[in-house]
Amino acid sequence: MNRLEGKVAVVTGAAQGIGATYAKALAGEGARVVITDIDDCSLTAKAIADSYQGAEVLALRTDVTNEKACEEMVRATVARFGRLDILVPNAALFGKLGYKGFEDIPVSEFDAVMAVNIKGPWLCIKAATPQMKKQNYGKIVNIASGTLFKGSPNLLHYVSSKGAVLAMTRSLSRELGDYGIRVNSLAPGLTMSEAVIAQDVDHHDAHQRTVNSRALKREQMPDDLVGALLFLASPDSDFMTGQCMVVDGGSVNH
Ligand SMILES: NC(=O)c1ccc[n+]([C@@H]2O[C@H](COP(=O)([O-])OP(=O)(O)OC[C@H]3O[C@@H](n4cnc5c(N)ncnc54)[C@H](O)[C@@H]3O)[C@@H](O)[C@H]2O)c1
Repeated sequence: MNRLEGKVAVVTGAAQGIGATYAKALAGEGARVVITDIDDCSLTAKAIADSYQGAEVLALRTDVTNEKACEEMVRATVARFGRLDILVPNAALFGKLGYKGFEDIPVSEFDAVMAVNIKGPWLCIKAATPQMKKQNYGKIVNIASGTLFKGSPNLLHYVSSKGAVLAMTRSLSRELGDYGIRVNSLAPGLTMSEAVIAQDVDHHDAHQRTVNSRALKREQMPDDLVGALLFLASPDSDFMTGQCMVVDGGSVNH
């Protein structure tokens, strides 16, 4: 408890889903949390306030594909809480993407996935690191995916974007190490977020195949990611950077 007392964390894509779980977990460890999404974050803010008396939360609307919006997100964070220690660029296009062969992906959909899933984290990191450099301390936890190690079919844009997140994590760790900024990534396996639960029957066969591929054969829930997220966000992992932690019940061996 309270491993993040005094720290300030920003989580993007926190209106619902796994991002909301990350935000709650960070608040539970004592961090002051900024929750942002292109959608309204008030339900997540209420859930945190209901769970942790005295928790300090700032809810913002931020489109992570917009450079000025990302800069404003950081400006509002520092104006409210005075610092920024932890960034979790979790927002992505994922849950609502349908499975389709690579030839059938519309160019507009490919571009949208790249804009949110890889340009988005880059813009958030670019906006956040000047403040982290001033503090000579920062923890960036990028969100990759087990799919990049498996080369999962029929989601080419998504899988490629998460491969880019892994590469970006490695490259950034070397650019930011001298400033005390650690950059790691967390790669979840298929996780029963609201969006995944809402997927159609076609997806359910694929979900079962994923469960069967695990050493631990059960569905993965958002809470299964909390231990690794808090480890990567806290001083417990301060001598670790450029790495990727896979949390997927033992489907991928990385
Ligand atoms: N659920 C899984 O099985 C799984 C597995 C591996 C990795 N992931 C990754 O974990 C993260 C969360 O997954 P999820 O299942 O909760 O996804 P989700 O699709 O349910 O949630 C993504 C969130 O991002 C927000 N968002 C989308 N575009 C945005 C934009 N332009 N600006 C700001 N916010 C935007 C959405 O509004 C939504 O709240 C994603 O990065 C996803 O790729 C998920």
